[in-house]
Amino acid sequence: MAQVQDVRLTVDEVARELPLTRASVGNDGVSVSTLLRDTGLVTVDSGFMNTASCSSAITYIDGDAGILRYRGYPIEQLAENSSFLEVAYLLIHGELPTQAQLDALTLRVSRHMHVHEGIKAFLGAFPRDAHPMAVLSGALSALSTFYPESVGRTPEQIELATVLLLAKAATVIAYLQRRSLGGDLIEPRRGGDYVEEFMRIAFSPASGEIEVDPLVKHAVDVLLILHADHEQNCSTSTVRIVGSSHANIYASVAAGVGALSGPLHGGANEAALRMFDQIKESGDSIEQFVAKVKDKAEGARLMGFGHRVYKSYDPRGAVVKKIADKVLADLGGSDETFQMAQRLEEIALSDEYFIERKLYPNVDFYTGLLYSAMGFPTPMFTPLFALGRMPGWIAHYREMLNDPTTKIGRPRQIYTGEVERDYVPVDQRG
Ligand code: CMC
Repeated sequence: MAQVQDVRLTVDEVARELPLTRASVGNDGVSVSTLLRDTGLVTVDSGFMNTASCSSAITYIDGDAGILRYRGYPIEQLAENSSFLEVAYLLIHGELPTQAQLDALTLRVSRHMHVHEGIKAFLGAFPRDAHPMAVLSGALSALSTFYPESVGRTPEQIELATVLLLAKAATVIAYLQRRSLGGDLIEPRRGGDYVEEFMRIAFSPASGEIEVDPLVKHAVDVLLILHADHEQNCSTSTVRIVGSSHANIYASVAAGVGALSGPLHGGANEAALRMFDQIKESGDSIEQFVAKVKDKAEGARLMGFGHRVYKSYDPRGAVVKKIADKVLADLGGSDETFQMAQRLEEIALSDEYFIERKLYPNVDFYTGLLYSAMGFPTPMFTPLFALGRMPGWIAHYREMLNDPTTKIGRPRQIYTGEVERDYVPVDQRG
């Protein structure tokens, strides 16, 4: 598409030039900030289908071509060669770390993985069957009260909060898993590998410790990398908008967890696995289920399919499908469900309903199968997404903070309620 040079909007026969904001790659933007002042009109864009809320140098997506890059690096290369903490450094600082920088981050995070006794008591106060996303959101918000020296907007405070969030989130999520399975909490070890330590805390029995299977460790590392950022998605936009009020990073990230919990966003990994189970239980054939989805029957949506931005195969989904094949073969996971998912994908991808609407499997279609084969209970799937997304949320919060053009997020509305009317005393209301 040729680059647009000039945008004019004619309102009541008066033409106004709208300034352009250029992208380094991808869609340029048209700025409408002064439109209200100049014309009395606001722009309407429900669901932000066409609105850029900020300029960002973190992640690039081309939804038509199925491209995802973090700081310019293709996701496939990072998934193949990198580790989660290396990608976290890249997202947050803009460049891949040197070995010394990576070692320093790994050590610092590892030193902070233990959590305050008060946080443990906090986690223990919830019902055992509480949904872990609700507890996680509360725990992350509560971190600000235990580590007040990291609360604030100076570079030192933000740097400390960055390390604390990466470290404590892993331990809190691993503890939530232990609690749900009835296990006592065990202490993190200093100096261990981030993912290995997370898996050790999550899965070691009350006595003794597990050896983390290298294939599983690698798969978790890759899954975390795939989830690490996705530009202005619902939860990241939430983090930015909460932070734009100068709320601290913990409150902002905790709000992001709330946004992520919804089944149209991060909750889709859990919803997809439940969907596979429901199809099995209902006795419906896959064709019958697809027919219900197409009829938009009550509650029938193909979870793990479709995306606001991707109008082709989600590149993350392609990587997940490849590792699911390997890991399920190794762990002897639910082959039957994997085959069912593959058949469902095959049928959907050749069906006019899905072709016309450009609906393809997204990252969540196969992740639940993998997590389940690794032994994670279904409610833990979305917290795993949250752990992966943590560097992205942090990077966006920091970018927002350092952007001199940031203003408090405050959308306009089109008011459609009553016009002015007079108060009626209660004894005169019909
Ligand atoms: N199953 C059946 N129909 C669908 C689906 C689906 N999964 N997704 C979209 N459609 C239909 C929708 O009914 C609509 O049809 P019509 O034009 O006849 O009204 C059309 O496709 C456009 O859908 P939309 O809901 O307007 O699209 P959106 O961009 O607002 O929604 C979405 C994107 C991801 C919320 C949606 O595709 C969806 O609900 N998918 C299932 C949930 C899911 O897997 N979410 C995870 C997203 S990826 C991970 C993440 O970033 O969180």
